[in-house]
Amino acid sequence: MAIFTNDKNLEKKVRKILAGIKLPDGGNLADYSGLSEIIITKKALALAISISPEMDKEFMLVRQEAQSKIEKIAKGRKVMISLTSDEAQPKASKKSGQEEGAPPQAKRPSAINRVPVKGVKNIIAIASGKGGVGKSTVSVNLALALKSLGLKTGLLDADLYGPSIPKMLRFEGKPAARVEGNFTPFEVYGIKAMSIGPMIEADKAVVWRAPMVTSALRQLLRETDWGELDVLVIDLPPGTGDIQISLAQQVELAGAVIVSTPQDMALIDAKKAISMFSMMDIKIFGIVENMSYFIAPDTGNRYDIFGHGGAKKTADDLGLEFLGEVPLVMNIRETSDKGEPVVASSPSSDEAKAFLDIANKIIKGIKP
Ligand SMILES: Nc1ncnc2c1ncn2[C@@H]1O[C@H](COP(=O)(O)OP(=O)(O)OP(=O)(O)O)[C@@H](O)[C@H]1O
Ligand SMILES: [Mg+2]
Repeated sequence: MAIFTNDKNLEKKVRKILAGIKLPDGGNLADYSGLSEIIITKKALALAISISPEMDKEFMLVRQEAQSKIEKIAKGRKVMISLTSDEAQPKASKKSGQEEGAPPQAKRPSAINRVPVKGVKNIIAIASGKGGVGKSTVSVNLALALKSLGLKTGLLDADLYGPSIPKMLRFEGKPAARVEGNFTPFEVYGIKAMSIGPMIEADKAVVWRAPMVTSALRQLLRETDWGELDVLVIDLPPGTGDIQISLAQQVELAGAVIVSTPQDMALIDAKKAISMFSMMDIKIFGIVENMSYFIAPDTGNRYDIFGHGGAKKTADDLGLEFLGEVPLVMNIRETSDKGEPVVASSPSSDEAKAFLDIANKIIKGIKP
């Protein structure tokens, strides 16, 4: 099927490798129905594996095996093998004992005392129904895009279960200093950023109970010297758990941005997140489709290997704005891994422009 490749031999070899990779259910990866076409260009080799949410752990190993075996025969090409759902289950919602598929037990706004964060005009939450769809990537790049559009911007990592902002903005190791009882946020690329990451021991899972979540979040939000901010972007953990509910109860949000991948499974989860925010009377700015399509780095050709367009359709169906699509490009992953997010490190790239377009749409919906 891979009509894009000019290296049939290599494709055959890849298929052979895939045929030798066992799946959790006993089949092999080459025959798997969720396998995308194989894209081979001069410099890249990409394929996607679409999975159902319960299969994430098993398929993580499958992906790794495919990645390392194919790298060996890829003749120097960059190999990009993506699971279309990396970590399917929201860590937070499991802990809070919600049933899968059940709407979250959110309190009605009347029962909530929302207090503004001093100096902060607008708070935007970045949410998704499930893990691994790119919330943190979108949060970081969106914050940088808002900054480059002239807004004073902050970024709060509210993923207490798995903070990833320190790595993406490279401020690991440095503990946040406390001045007069308040945290001094990290200043990176012109934005103020705060995460619990540097304050907890690396590689130690923190077990948060609901009341601790509420108070840790309150501290990060209110005991950080944000100064004057036009906008504070908040990177949430996946799902509809304690942290989401706690945040929505503590502050007035300007709105939420829902990140999804194009697959239906992701969108079913996205709808759960959307319904949670609606139940709490929180405006939804719209949906961002991340990893929307693949761009080959050498040819610049675009390949819709993920069933692109699902998020736009869901947005239309739900009467929400479609905020834009972000391609799957190695540059986004690599720059994030290095702590040099694409909007800061290559601001004129197409992928940076995708984030700027989204930022421009969001700006229209916030207080000046
Ligand atoms: N558009 C993209 N192109 C390429 N890689 C991407 C893209 N978006 C995200 N990634 C990569 O996918 C992985 C998951 O992204 P990210 O950590 O942002 O997801 P998340 O939704 O925040 O995950 P979690 O639910 O675990 O917090 C990261 O390795 C990231 O670099
Ligand atoms: Mg994240």
